[in-house]
Amino acid sequence: MNRKETRRAIPDQWLEPVPIHDWFDSIQNLEIDLGCGNGRFLLERATQHPGINFLGIERQLKRVAKIDHRAIKRNIRNIRLWRVEGDYAMRYLVPKHSISTCYIFFPDPWPKKKHAPKRIMNAGFLKVLHRSLQSRGQVHFATDHLPYFFDAVQAIQGTGLFEEITPFCPTEAERTDFELHFLAHKPIGRYSFHKKT
Ligand SMILES: C[S@@+](CC[C@H](N)C(=O)[O-])C[C@H]1O[C@@H](n2cnc3c(N)ncnc32)[C@H](O)[C@@H]1O
Repeated sequence: MNRKETRRAIPDQWLEPVPIHDWFDSIQNLEIDLGCGNGRFLLERATQHPGINFLGIERQLKRVAKIDHRAIKRNIRNIRLWRVEGDYAMRYLVPKHSISTCYIFFPDPWPKKKHAPKRIMNAGFLKVLHRSLQSRGQVHFATDHLPYFFDAVQAIQGTGLFEEITPFCPTEAERTDFELHFLAHKPIGRYSFHKKT
């Protein structure tokens, strides 16, 4: 194939998910940190688990750039980053049945009732999440906003697609600034679940 041909857009592939596994040095389980913020959890987790690949998804460019810089500096080879809106990424870019674990820690709570439909943990997103998970794939959710917590748990249980598992608790080193701030000020709701089949 010459250079011109390799650059040509192929219409059949325009709507294909991204072959994310090919972007890593080796094929191994893939975990996603959705809304990874300053990346403290992601960087620590990836360092401690070199046998797992990690994808951080975050919409703020500065945060993504900071994580990238730190990952390069520390020679952490099992992290890739997407600067993209989380729902869009999970819906269109992440391949079906491709992820073993998804972390959703302290997503924007949209506390006003009229804004609640903007929350990421809604019925539509949960179907998308289910499709992207491998069999028995896990999701770990945490929020400091208890109304959001209870609504999300109700939505998760209402799908009939998941089973509750022991809540995930990050180690001391994995705690982000957000988590430390919330821990000091309010109760945190944690809920973990896995795909039934
Ligand atoms: C409160 S912070 C929590 C960050 C991190 N998960 C933690 O526990 O420290 C929420 C993060 O999610 C990002 N975010 C919010 N909505 C998002 C979306 N729809 N898609 C991607 N990132 C999003 C924000 O930019 C922010 O960095």
